[in-house]
Parts: sequence; C-alpha cells; structure tokens
Amino acid sequence: MRLVVPLRGIVGGRGGLILGTFVPCALFCYLHIRRLRFLATRRVSERAEPIAKAEESPYYVGLGRVSQDPFDEVANPNGIIQLGLSENRLCLDLIEEWLSENLNGAMIGHGSDKGHLGIGGITGYQPHDGVTELKEAMAGFMSQVMGGEISFDPSRIVLTAGATPAIEILCFCLADPGDAFLVPTPYYPGFDRDMTWRTGVELIPVHCHSANNFILSIAALQQAFNQARKRGQRVQGILISNPSNPVGNLLPQKTLHDILDFARKKNIHIISDEIFAGSIHGNEEFFSLAKILDAENFDKSRAHILYGLSKDLSLAGFRVGVIYSYNDDVLAAAKKLTRFSSVSAPTQRLLISLLSDTSFIGRYLETNRKRIRKMYDIFVSGLKEIGVKYVDSSGGLYCWVDMSGLMHSHNVKEELELWDKLLNVAKVNATPGSACHSIEPGWFRCCFTTLSEGNIRIAIERIRKVAEMRKSSR
Ligand SMILES: Cc1ncc(COP(=O)(O)O)c(C=O)c1O
Repeated sequence: MRLVVPLRGIVGGRGGLILGTFVPCALFCYLHIRRLRFLATRRVSERAEPIAKAEESPYYVGLGRVSQDPFDEVANPNGIIQLGLSENRLCLDLIEEWLSENLNGAMIGHGSDKGHLGIGGITGYQPHDGVTELKEAMAGFMSQVMGGEISFDPSRIVLTAGATPAIEILCFCLADPGDAFLVPTPYYPGFDRDMTWRTGVELIPVHCHSANNFILSIAALQQAFNQARKRGQRVQGILISNPSNPVGNLLPQKTLHDILDFARKKNIHIISDEIFAGSIHGNEEFFSLAKILDAENFDKSRAHILYGLSKDLSLAGFRVGVIYSYNDDVLAAAKKLTRFSSVSAPTQRLLISLLSDTSFIGRYLETNRKRIRKMYDIFVSGLKEIGVKYVDSSGGLYCWVDMSGLMHSHNVKEELELWDKLLNVAKVNATPGSACHSIEPGWFRCCFTTLSEGNIRIAIERIRKVAEMRKSSR
C-alpha cells in the first residue's frame, strides 16, 4: 500500500510498522466514510436546503403545538385553544345541510338530467385552469359576495388549488428572482412562504402604524420604494390584502386610488388579495379593486385580484383559489402553470352546483356575516372586561389585539416571551405581531371563528390569568 511506505520511513522499527500500516488505513476509512456521508447529505438542491433548514416562525410553531395538544371541552380540557388559524367553522351546519341534499347529484348528475356527464365527468382530465361552467359560477359568486354591483368576466378567471398557488403563480408571472414586492405590514405570515420560496422574489415590508389605524400611507410606500432603488433592487409590484389579514380593517376608497396612482407612476403591478371580501361583519363599506377599476380610467393591465373559497365559504379543505387578472399575458401564462395546481374534477363539479344555487349562497352569506359579528362582539367584550385593547375592525375572522400592556419592555424578545406564556402556560395559541412583520411589538392576531361562544369565554379567561401574572410580576 503506497500510503504505508512514507510513514514507515518516518517512524522506524516495529512501532513504525504498526503506525505506518494501521494509522493510514484508519485515516483512509475515516475519510472514505466522511465522503460517503457528505455525498448522502448532498441529496437536496440548493433551493430546497434553506427551506428544509429554515427556522419556523412562531406562527407555524403555534399551529404545530395545537395539532399535538388540541383543546377539547370533554376529551382534552387542558389542551391548547386555537386562536392562530383563520378558519371559519361558524356555518358548517349550512354547508353540511346543502351537501347532504345535493352531493350526489352535484358531482355526477342524475341520469335524467340534461347535460348529464355521469362518472366520466369527474374521472377524466379537465382543463387545468378550471372548467368554463365553474368560472361562470365563480364570477357570479364573486359578484354576489361584493354586493352585486361589480361584474366579473369568467374569461379573466384562472382557478387554482387554493389561494396559495394563486399568489405564487402571480408572483412567478410578474417578477424575476431577486425582484421585489412591497407589502404593507402587518401582513399574513403565509406571504413569506407563498411569494418567495419557489419564485426567488423578495418582500419589502412597508410599515403601517397603530396611530394611523394600520392604514397604508403613500409616504411609507414611496420611502420603501426609494430605499429598494438605492439598494439596486427592482420593485415589480405592491401586494395589499383587503380586508386586511391580520388587522381586519378595510382600505378606504381614497387610499386605493392613491395606490393605483402610485403603481401607475412607478410602472409597477398591484395585487389585491380579497379573500375575506365576503367575511365583512361591520358597517364599513368595502371597495374591491375591481370596483375602482370599473369606475375609473386606470391602466387595468397592471391590476390583479386574488380570491378563493377557503374563508368566505368555509371550504379551506376544498382547495380553491382564483386569479382574476386584467392582463392577457399573465392569464395566458397562469393558465399553463395551473397544470401544477389544478382543482380536482369532483370538486369542480360540486362547486358548479353549489355556487349556482344563488338563493342558498345569499342565505349563507347573510347568516355567516351575522355569526362572525356575534363572535367578534363576544370576543371583544371579553377583551374589554380584562382591560386589553384591540383595533375596532369590520372584516376577517380575527381580531388584532394590543397586548403591549402585558409586556415589561417594548421589544420583540419580550413579545415572544409573552407569546410563549400564552402558548405554554395559558394554553392559548395566538399569532405574535412579529410573525406578521409588525413594527410595533405587543400585537397579536386572534382568530375567533373556530370556537364556540363558551370556548371563547374560556380563552378570554386564560388570557386574563396571564395578564394578572404579568402585572403582578412587575
Ligand atoms: C390573506 C390570505 N391570502 C391567502 C391565503 C391562503 O388561502 P388558501 O388556504 O386558499 O391557500 C390566506 C390564508 O389564510 C390568507 O389569509
């Protein structure tokens, strides 16, 4: 063995023989095993590696903790109460009732039906961006959700498997890796994943403040845009969520005009995520971007609306999202990209019937709004009783709660300590503002539509205990 010889020359005698033979062999084996291990760990791509290794945001950590130890009044009364998931369970009775009456006929039709598709209608390939009948039904539903004043053109609709891929597809179509989107804060924590992971696009937070009720200011937008320019970054668009997740406020008509004006001047796109448009429970008036565009002479090709059925129709598990774009090239590319995230044919068939049942939808939307409002009122009156402030809001399935009064100092570390106490001591999972890029520490998003009235009271009681503990430890 070649390796042996030089060492035997250096270390003489019998010791030299042992050292000169075994040491190089051991070294060789060690290096070989290391190389094999190195090769074994090199299996993921450079794109997947940071995703695999990324530290989880408290948003996901909290959701994970609840799934391990979920509160149940009877089976697990000491479990964690979920205030971290924006899911709506308040009208599942209505959905269940409709499904129990219509499920079979809706999916495969009845033999006597005109246009009856039979089993072949759900087993074969369908257009990946959605069948025409569903696009028509979706256009009608979106119009009904937005009060009937706006009409949507079905040919501008692309259907996806949830709003998540709809956002990703839009980002893919509007920006190249390294380009950026301006996103007002606080924002839905999922945007960091949906918009950046696979597209290579970056997000630039545009900070909104409690003093201005967390409404976006054009000055802040301009500042973020200028700073990006100075860094040499190309800004391709603005993403707004209206009604806002996590604040629940609605963008005033004037602000929408100003944002469109800003987009025109900077020659960038605007994406309006309106996934909570049908979950407005207060008295404020909602202005869809579509309404503003219909009324004014803006260049529509830079405007795109996101929608979906996960929130307003409580169908998160169905995975249905919508891209509504006024830009023909975006539509052409997005349609092709839905090959990777299409809605299943049975789901599409079922939804054609459900969304076309306008009297059911009308009843559902009205009842849903009333029930969300009722829960909101119960939740905020509980907060008032325990002396915790919040933003008065009109939309969404959550409340933006100011717990800074329970903190000893105003920084993110302290906010996360409070989050930890809520999660592990009080057993309440709320989303800390830092997970939503809030610039002001101490805010928490609390979703209240997965709970019963009684469980909301238990959640408030648990928060009260933490509040008392924190106050007494000052
Ligand atoms: C503002 C916003 N956009 C998009 C989504 C993603 O929706 P989906 O579950 O349909 O993918 C969510 C989900 O919480 C959301 O809050």
